[in-house]
Amino acid sequence: MKDILETLDQRREGARLGGGEARIAAQHKRGKLTARERIELLLDKDSFEEFDMFVQHRCTDFGMEKSHVPGDGVVTGWGTVNGRTVFVFAKDFTVFGGSLSETHAQKITKIQDMALKMRAPIIGLFDAGGARIQEGVAALGGYGEVFKRNVIASGVIPQISVIMGPCAGGDVYSPAMTDFIFMVRDTSYMFVTGPDVVKTVTNEVVTAEELGGAKVHTSKSSIADGAFDNDVECILQIRRLLDFLPANNQAGAPSWPSYDTPDRIDYSLDTLVPDNPNKPYDIKELILKVVDEGDFFEIQEAYAKNIVTGFGRMEGRAIGVVANQPMVLAGVLDSDASRKAARFVRFCNAFNIPIVTFVDVPGFLPGTAQEYGGLIKHGAKLLFAYSQCDVPLVTIITRKAFGGAYDVMASKHIGADVNYAWPTAQIAVMGAKGAVEIIFRSEMGDPAKIAARTAEYEGRFLSPFVAAERGYIDEVIMPHSTRRRIARALAMLKTKSVERPARKHDNLPL
Ligand code: HXC
Repeated sequence: MKDILETLDQRREGARLGGGEARIAAQHKRGKLTARERIELLLDKDSFEEFDMFVQHRCTDFGMEKSHVPGDGVVTGWGTVNGRTVFVFAKDFTVFGGSLSETHAQKITKIQDMALKMRAPIIGLFDAGGARIQEGVAALGGYGEVFKRNVIASGVIPQISVIMGPCAGGDVYSPAMTDFIFMVRDTSYMFVTGPDVVKTVTNEVVTAEELGGAKVHTSKSSIADGAFDNDVECILQIRRLLDFLPANNQAGAPSWPSYDTPDRIDYSLDTLVPDNPNKPYDIKELILKVVDEGDFFEIQEAYAKNIVTGFGRMEGRAIGVVANQPMVLAGVLDSDASRKAARFVRFCNAFNIPIVTFVDVPGFLPGTAQEYGGLIKHGAKLLFAYSQCDVPLVTIITRKAFGGAYDVMASKHIGADVNYAWPTAQIAVMGAKGAVEIIFRSEMGDPAKIAARTAEYEGRFLSPFVAAERGYIDEVIMPHSTRRRIARALAMLKTKSVERPARKHDNLPL
């Protein structure tokens, strides 16, 4: 009996070594943790239960029958993050470069199936060379099985992908269908085809970093939702993110103890909006002063900075925040900002996370670049996303809410539940200058008349009161009481219930 136990211990020890000490050392030398070290850091202490530690590939081509490593390049199982169950798989780069074989794929799909059945989040840690080349179509089939499960689980359980090394070929499409992708700066990259193929096909010479590094994907392509300096920082931030997310689409936004009183007043907000309507201010200051303990997890911080998206809490319960950022392009809505916010709004709605929207938007960005780039369709994505929401929606207009962007930014008309405006709000078709130039064109030669018309327009329309007179704004509120008003609105909206007509699925303007 003792021998049998010892054999198990030895087999476990062997499996835990993955591709061996030399490859583990090489991994560390590159500043990367191993798959097991990452999992240990991600999960609560001693909570990891590993599955399929002894699974091996069945390939017999190219001499592979002589080369078996228990676990086959991916570590899978489940554990807890701050006491809540999550499922996890981590590609082990020390074993065949973490490449995906038929059996490797089966380990992942087993975890995907478990996560879906248990209605718990799944986190994939990527560090791999794509399809196991020696396995050919068996590996491609494996990818297909993973992809299908990503789609079935979409909108049911949160799926998070963390790129912590190479992620190429077949490996990129599973993350692309998950809810969030995070990357580690300098050690991770993602692309469909690598620099060598790019050079052969297009004659472009690029490095892996230039083609698909964290900077590219967080600021240019918007593939990644955030990047962190190293494995440890990245994993700790994923733990933080998980605390904002529900286990599934039935569980409701998670609640944690809050030490911040909901009726906290902040008088500094009364002077946040400058007297000059063209002067910017930082909307993040408002967000940080409103949410519990100033704890805000920003999503896509480096992309389309003219709109801010992220998670916070009110009275301990997670909320999504969407806010125009007057500091960048005056907070205008363009294609990138619309797509970014639309995806975030849809995530929140799918997982029953209430949304708070702060509005200061001068309109949609004019110009050929935007129109040729499909601004109509991208703007419609955000309009569609908000209109589709059945989660509680609370909107606060701090300053400008002009034109179509007024409608789009969670207005009453498309389904918001509680709409507040600060006294500094200006809700109109457009700003005074543009409006007067159009409706009083015949008087343009007379500066005195134009000045009088501008003053008249500003007095009548550049305020929250025309909208408030019609009930489009439920109340004009004091900036200092914003947190209290939002907290009360969200508490009242907890029981919100909306019936929609049955349909197969909608036709989001993609
Ligand atoms: C089998 C692989 C492998 C792969 C790496 N290895 N990728 N084995 N299949 N796809 C092995 C290497 O042979 C090596 O084994 C070990 O992993 C480490 O790889 P190195 O090349 O030494 O490491 P590094 O220099 O860091 O380069 C990492 C890499 C490179 C950039 C990922 O290995 C690479 O380019 N790999 C191939 C990438 C690729 O083209 N994959 C197929 C994509 S096509 P030893 O024994 O020497 O340690 C695809 C199609 C699917 O995925 C589409 C589905 C829709």
